[in-house]
Amino acid sequence: MLQISNLTKKFGGVKAVDDLSFSVKKGTIHSIIGPNGAGKTTLVNMITGVYKVDSGTVFLDGGDITNLATNKLVHRGVCRTFQHLEICGNLTVIENVMLGFDKYMDKNIIRSCFRAKSILEDEKRYFDRGMHLLELIGLENFAHNEAKNLSYGILKKLEIIRALATTPELILLDEPVAGLNPKETHEVSELIKTVVADEVTIILVEHDMKMIMKISDYITVMNFGKKLAQGTPTQIVNNEEVIKAYLGSGALHGK
Ligand SMILES: Nc1ncnc2c1ncn2[C@@H]1O[C@H](COP(=O)(O)OP(=O)(O)OP(=O)(O)O)[C@@H](O)[C@H]1O
Ligand SMILES: [Mg+2]
Repeated sequence: MLQISNLTKKFGGVKAVDDLSFSVKKGTIHSIIGPNGAGKTTLVNMITGVYKVDSGTVFLDGGDITNLATNKLVHRGVCRTFQHLEICGNLTVIENVMLGFDKYMDKNIIRSCFRAKSILEDEKRYFDRGMHLLELIGLENFAHNEAKNLSYGILKKLEIIRALATTPELILLDEPVAGLNPKETHEVSELIKTVVADEVTIILVEHDMKMIMKISDYITVMNFGKKLAQGTPTQIVNNEEVIKAYLGSGALHGK
């Protein structure tokens, strides 16, 4: 479904992503792991049109989507969440979800937030669908709360639901459980595995190895912008190079 070929991105002298190639199969959860600074977020930013690539190509279903703007990508069925929350605090929970329906998400989320109020008033027809999505994860009781008053855990879930509202074919999740407690991590994990993966292909960037091992179909490991390894969770957790560069020996014992 997605084919990344020879992607490269430099920042000054640093090659954040260095000649990276891999493909993602339709209907799978494909995880990207690796140490801090390995280039995972830069990769997501290139795929989703936030950064222009220095070189290389991104193909979706055989069509070239390299350097396509974020809002155009949403119409091609590609959506993402952010490592650092990008939620409109001045909007309610349901309004945030409806932003997704509108395929209105701008790469500049702040700009979306300001323009959103007036647009959302015209989009009442999306309300029921939005409520349905919130019910799937038990957030319906928060629908009319302003997002800024809610916990980090709820907002992380809301971001995933909003991405789902764009009816994507491919969702990229950048650290969806970072900063969550074990109970919330479990809930988000279930949300991704049951609700999201049922409908769409997922690229998951995460450091939580327990979650990665449980829900990934396939894993690509990055180190210094390059691909260090790829394989099934079992292959990766037993790969000597991956253990040395990232996991440490504890990984073998399920830590
Ligand atoms: N906008 C930017 N300007 C300059 N350097 C950048 C920029 N974005 C990323 N980098 C650099 O590129 C490298 C890769 O960073 P990136 O954020 O992609 O790593 P990551 O794998 O997502 O790390 P983490 O696990 O900590 O989120 C790092 O050296 C980082 O400092
Ligand atoms: Mg990152």
